Amino acid sequence: MRLEKVTPENYEAALGLSVRPDQADLVAPVVKSLAEAYVFPEYAWPRLIYDGDRLVGFLMAFLDIPWDPDKDPDDRRSGLWRLSIAADAQGNGYGRFAVGAVADEIRSRGGTRMYVTWEPRDGGPEPFYLKLGFRLTGEQSGGQTVGLLELS
Ligand SMILES: CC(C)(COP(=O)(O)OP(=O)(O)OC[C@H]1O[C@@H](n2cnc3c(N)ncnc32)[C@H](O)[C@@H]1OP(=O)(O)O)[C@@H](O)C(=O)NCCC(=O)NCCS
Repeated sequence: MRLEKVTPENYEAALGLSVRPDQADLVAPVVKSLAEAYVFPEYAWPRLIYDGDRLVGFLMAFLDIPWDPDKDPDDRRSGLWRLSIAADAQGNGYGRFAVGAVADEIRSRGGTRMYVTWEPRDGGPEPFYLKLGFRLTGEQSGGQTVGLLELS
């Protein structure tokens, strides 16, 4: 498994990635994430997930972003902004690999905490994140549950 930057050669395949139809409300399409990466280049870290030559997913981290500047301008956070594993590739450890890769990137920049938010509904990714060690902070962000993983 490995991560690759989005390039002229692979971006169309990336736009074709999709989760299961019943998961469509859980994560924005790749095209929206790439638009956000264009608009917020200083914070966004988009990467494609490959297993050998097979494209299996997309992730986008946020790095040192002002979380809620009106509330606390010093509260800057890093974490996982988007994670989509292709419908036919789920359940093979790619999601776990993606979380580990983002944790490594945050650590390499001196960070010690990794945040993620998710849709709090049955069938959503909460059990996945709790299994990987995230805990609930008790916060909500835009109606989503906020999870935190302390990086050691
Ligand atoms: C959630 C998602 C990223 C998980 O990716 P994945 O590659 O299928 O997960 P993995 O195979 O790495 O699973 C890692 C562990 O979590 C468990 N797990 C994964 N999804 C789970 C779920 N929905 N409920 C319970 N456990 C789950 C796996 O069983 C595995 O446990 P194990 O190591 O004991 O076998 C993927 O299902 C997905 O893209 N979902 C749709 C979009 C989404 O919800 N993205 C997150 C937005 S915040």
